[in-house]
Amino acid sequence: MTEVTVRAPATVSNVVVGFDCLGFALELPFDEVTVRIIDESRVRIIHHDDFDLPTEPEQNVAGVALSALIKTAELTHGFEVEITKNIMPGSGVGSSSASSCGAVFAANQLIGDRFTKHDLTELAMLGEQLASGSRHADNAAPCIYGGFVLVRSTDPLDITEIEHPPLWATVIHPQIEVKTSESRAILPSQVPLKDAVRNWSNLAAFVTALSSGDYDLMARSMEDFIVEPVRQTLIPKYEEVKAACLEAGAIGGGISGSGPSMFMLSDNINTADEVADAMESVFSNSEIERNVYVSAISRDGVTIM
Ligand code: HSE
Repeated sequence: MTEVTVRAPATVSNVVVGFDCLGFALELPFDEVTVRIIDESRVRIIHHDDFDLPTEPEQNVAGVALSALIKTAELTHGFEVEITKNIMPGSGVGSSSASSCGAVFAANQLIGDRFTKHDLTELAMLGEQLASGSRHADNAAPCIYGGFVLVRSTDPLDITEIEHPPLWATVIHPQIEVKTSESRAILPSQVPLKDAVRNWSNLAAFVTALSSGDYDLMARSMEDFIVEPVRQTLIPKYEEVKAACLEAGAIGGGISGSGPSMFMLSDNINTADEVADAMESVFSNSEIERNVYVSAISRDGVTIM
């Protein structure tokens, strides 16, 4: 085999209560990533999109991850990577992770599956570092593993997959770009102890609720006192969207990753569709373009097409 194509899904990180440590994978949207073996010992990048992403390997999230894979595996050949990007950069649903995870997952297939999911997440995190200046794994880990994933530590990387009951996600992406590096720069460097306590109580409760399938506890725990109050100022109609979605029956939700996308979780697909309508209705008189997705939670993360 000298060529493989994978689908690399969008991911929702933070999930309101787990800033930088919790994420889940969506079925939709996804990028298509094709990787081919080439004789030269380098990475060649082809993009099919209008996003003007850099194609120099050292400036490209897939490029840095693949270069590290080549070095770690001591390969004498290189790779060409061709990416059809459906996930807009700066959307808050793990666009950079989809590129880097798709690339290393596909390359690993071509070299006989030498790396574990844990290894591939570490390689993909190099792309996150390049894109945002921060070595977080709350998009990369769910993209590689699928489902809900908790990143207890990034150094050393410590990942736990979390069982969850049936859940559907509704995501709205207002078509404005919010750079992760910029939405990180506005965050406080210190937090009051009482807010920290409320946040870690909610995270523990949310993870327990996922594992036990307790939707009511999930709803009560989806509140963040540290990051969202600051970041919501970057998101158009944040409060209105949240209120309309809860009214439509969503369990809870908030900012997806660093925004501007917002997500909501529902316990059945009909409610998730109604939540999508509620999101649309908030923007009905707005000139802001938006995409709305209803998606199941991806069980598998990156998969071969
Ligand atoms: N956890 C990261 C953040 C995700 O919120 O900044 C963005 O990639």
